[in-house]
Amino acid sequence: LEIDFELNMSEKDGFPFYMEKEMAEQPRVIARMLEEKTTEDLPDFSGEQVPDSLLTSCESVCIIACGSAMHAGLAGQFLMKKFLHIPVSVEMASEYMYTDPVVDEKTLVIAVSQSGETIDTLEALKYAKQKGAGSLAVINVKGSSIARESDAVLYTNAGPEIAVASTKAYTSQLALFALLVARMAYVRGDFTETETRDFVRELKRVPDAMEKVLAGKEKIHHIAGRIISAKDIFMIGRGLDYFIAMEGSLKLKEVSYIHSEAYASGELKHGPLALITEHTPVVAVATQKQLLSKEVSNIREVRSRGADVVLFAKEQLMPEEEEGYLTFELPDVRDEFMCLPAAAALQLLAYYVSSDKGYDVDKPRNLAKVVTVE
Ligand code: AGP
Repeated sequence: LEIDFELNMSEKDGFPFYMEKEMAEQPRVIARMLEEKTTEDLPDFSGEQVPDSLLTSCESVCIIACGSAMHAGLAGQFLMKKFLHIPVSVEMASEYMYTDPVVDEKTLVIAVSQSGETIDTLEALKYAKQKGAGSLAVINVKGSSIARESDAVLYTNAGPEIAVASTKAYTSQLALFALLVARMAYVRGDFTETETRDFVRELKRVPDAMEKVLAGKEKIHHIAGRIISAKDIFMIGRGLDYFIAMEGSLKLKEVSYIHSEAYASGELKHGPLALITEHTPVVAVATQKQLLSKEVSNIREVRSRGADVVLFAKEQLMPEEEEGYLTFELPDVRDEFMCLPAAAALQLLAYYVSSDKGYDVDKPRNLAKVVTVE
C-alpha cells in the first residue's frame, strides 16, 4: 500500500490531484506549443502538413465540438470574426446533424477535441465531410479517430490529461486557436507580416501571465472559501469574458457539484436577475477594455440586489473602488488573449471548492473522460 501511494504521488508530481498538476503544467505546455508551431514569430504549421490552401480556400468556418472544447471554439470564433471577417459558427456537435446545417465545399469545418474520440464530434465531422466541407482537427491525443478522419490535424501536444475536468487541454486549444487565426489572417492577407509577428509575440507573453495567476492560487483558495457553501452561483461576462464564464461555470459544476449558470451580463435583466437575492454569489469576469463600463454597471445591478460579487478583472481595468466585493487581478496581456489567464483563475476556483469539500476532484460522479456514446 505504501508503495502504491508513493508511486501515485510521483505520477502526480507531488500534487494531491491530477487536476492540480495539469493546471500547473499549463504555462509550460502553451510556451512549448507556441515555440513548436512558429518560425521567427510567424505561425508555421508546415511540420504538421496543414496546407495553406485549406486555410485560404474557405469562405466560412464551422467549429464543432462538445463541452470545454466547444467553449474553446467560442473563443476561436470570436477571434476569427474579429480578424478574418468571414462567417464563423460554433455548433454543439451533439445537435449539429439535427439542425440542417448549411455546409458545403466552401466551408472549413474545425473539429476540436482533447481525446479525438468524442462520438458526437466524430459523427458531425463525418456529416460535414459528406457535404463536401474541408476539415481540420484540433486534437490532443495523437492518431485518434477524429484526427484520422480529418484532412489535416493540428495537435495541441498538451500531454496526457488524466483528470476528467479539462484544464491544460482546453487552454492549449485556446492558444492554438489564436495561432491558427494568426496564420489564417497572414495567408489570407488580413494581417501584414509585421502585424502577424506582433500578434504572436504578444501571445508568447501569455505563459508568464498564466504563471502569475498560478502563483496567486492562495488568494483564489481564499475566494473559494466564500462560495463553498453556495447552492447556486452565477458567472457573468461580456464578449470573450462570457465564453470564459461558460467554461468556468462548467468546471465548477463538474467538480464541485454546485449549480452554476453562466450568463452574458447584458442578458441578466431579461430574466435571470429575478434569481439574484441577498448573498447570491456572482462571479464576474472583466478583461475587455471596450466593454468595461457596461460590465461595471451590470455588477452594480447585481450588487444592488444584494449579490456577493467576486470580480476577476484585468489588472489595468480593475475598478479603483472595490465597493465591498472580492477581487482578483489578472495579469495584463492583449485583451484578445486575456481568456487564458482568466481561464486558469476560474479553474483554480473550481478546484479549491471541490478539494475543500473533500471530493475526488479527478473523478467527478457520473462523468467519463472520453464520451463514446451519443
Ligand atoms: C470538460 O471538463 C469535460 N470533461 C468535457 O466537457 C469535455 O470537454 C467534452 O466531453 C469533450 O471532450 P473531448 O475534448 O475529448 O472531445
